[in-house]
Amino acid sequence: MSIDLPFHRAWLDDDEINEVVDTLKSGWLTTGPKTHRFEEDFKEYIGCKHALGLNSCTAGLHLSIAAMEFPEGSEVITTPMTFPATANVIVHERLRPVFVDIEPGTLNIDAGKIEAKITGKTRAIFPVHFAGHPCDMDAIAEIARKHNLMVFEDAAHALETSYKNRKIGNLGNLTSFSFYANKNITTGEGGMLTVNDDELADKTRILRLHGLSKDAWKRFGKTGFSQWELLAPGYKYNLTDIAASLGIHQLKKTKKFFDLRKRYSEMYNEGFKDTPEIETPVIKDYAQSSYHIYIIALRLERLNVTRDQFLNEIQARGIGVAVHYVGLHLQPFYREEFNTKPTDCPVATDYSQRVLTLPLYPKMSVEDVSRVIEVVTELVAKFRR
Ligand SMILES: Cc1ncc(COP(=O)(O)O)c(C=O)c1O
Repeated sequence: MSIDLPFHRAWLDDDEINEVVDTLKSGWLTTGPKTHRFEEDFKEYIGCKHALGLNSCTAGLHLSIAAMEFPEGSEVITTPMTFPATANVIVHERLRPVFVDIEPGTLNIDAGKIEAKITGKTRAIFPVHFAGHPCDMDAIAEIARKHNLMVFEDAAHALETSYKNRKIGNLGNLTSFSFYANKNITTGEGGMLTVNDDELADKTRILRLHGLSKDAWKRFGKTGFSQWELLAPGYKYNLTDIAASLGIHQLKKTKKFFDLRKRYSEMYNEGFKDTPEIETPVIKDYAQSSYHIYIIALRLERLNVTRDQFLNEIQARGIGVAVHYVGLHLQPFYREEFNTKPTDCPVATDYSQRVLTLPLYPKMSVEDVSRVIEVVTELVAKFRR
C-alpha cells in the first residue's frame, strides 16, 4: 500500500508564493533585502539582539563552535538523542563530543548527569530541545557558570518553545533554529542563529560569508561599490532571499501552526491514555513545548513485536512514520571513532529501540489524527502479549 497520509506536508499559501515571485522579478536572489527583513522580524519575534539568516541550522551549530576557536581535542557535552548535525559539527572542529544520558519522559539531556562528565578539557554544553520540549536551562546555566562553559542551544525543534515563560533563543550564548522542510516553519532549507552578545554576533556574521568584511548587498548596494577585506577563513552559510521570502510569511503563521500542533498532540495523548503499551510525551511544569514532533515509546515487554516491525505495520496501512532517534552513541561512526558504548547512556539506548514518531503537522485534519490513533491502537491490540 502506498503512503496516503505522509509523515509531513508543508503549509504554504499564496502569500509565500507571491513573495517568492516578487523576489524573482526583483532580480536580487541571494542575501539581500528579504533576508534582512526576515532577520528583523525573527529578532522581534524572539526578543533577542541579533538574528543571522543562514542556509541551515547545521550552519548555525557549526558557526557557534567555530567562532570560539577552542583548542583541538577540547570536549563539548551534548545529548546522544539528536540528529547527527549536533555532534558532527563538534567533530568538524576537531573537538570531542561527550554524550550525557537523557532523562526519561522528555528525552532531553539529563542536567543532573552533566557535571560528572566535565573534565579540564570541557569547553561547552550543547543542549538540544528534543521534540520541542525545553531542556532544564536554569540547571544547565548554573553548571556552565560554575565551570566557565559556553552554552550553544540546538533549537532545531524549538520555535515556539518556552522555558519558565522565557522564549528559547535568548537563554544560551548562541541558539540555532532550523527551517528545514518539516520544521514548525519552513524555508525549504534554512536556519537562523540568535545571539545577544555583540562581539559574537560580529564574529559569526563574518564567518557566515567566507570571512568577508561586507556581504554582497552592502558591496553592490545603493551607496555604490565598496571593496571587502578577508578577515577570516569563513564558510558559505548565508540565506538566500528566495528562501527568506518563504520565511517572512511562515513566521506570521507560527501561532496558527502552534495551535494546530498542540490540538493534535492533545488528541494523540487522549487517544492513547488507556493504552498502557504506549508511553506518551511528558511535559514538565516549567515547559511550553513547540509540539514539533509527536513521539511515542512502545513498552516492548508488553508487546510481541519490535519497534521496526511496528513501524512497518503502520506504513503498510498508508501512514508515514519516522524514528527520532537511534542514539548517536550507537552509530558506527561514534562507536568506532570515539569508542562509545550502549552502556554509556543506558536510558538513551533503551529509548533508541522503542521510540517512533507519528505524523504531526498543521496540514493534517482531525480525521487524519483519529485515523493514526485507530491504526496504532489496533496494532497494539494485535501484538499485545
Ligand atoms: C535536532 C536537530 N538538530 C539539527 C538539525 C539540522 O537542521 P538543518 O537541516 O536545518 O541543518 C536537525 C534537522 O532535522 C535536527 O532535528
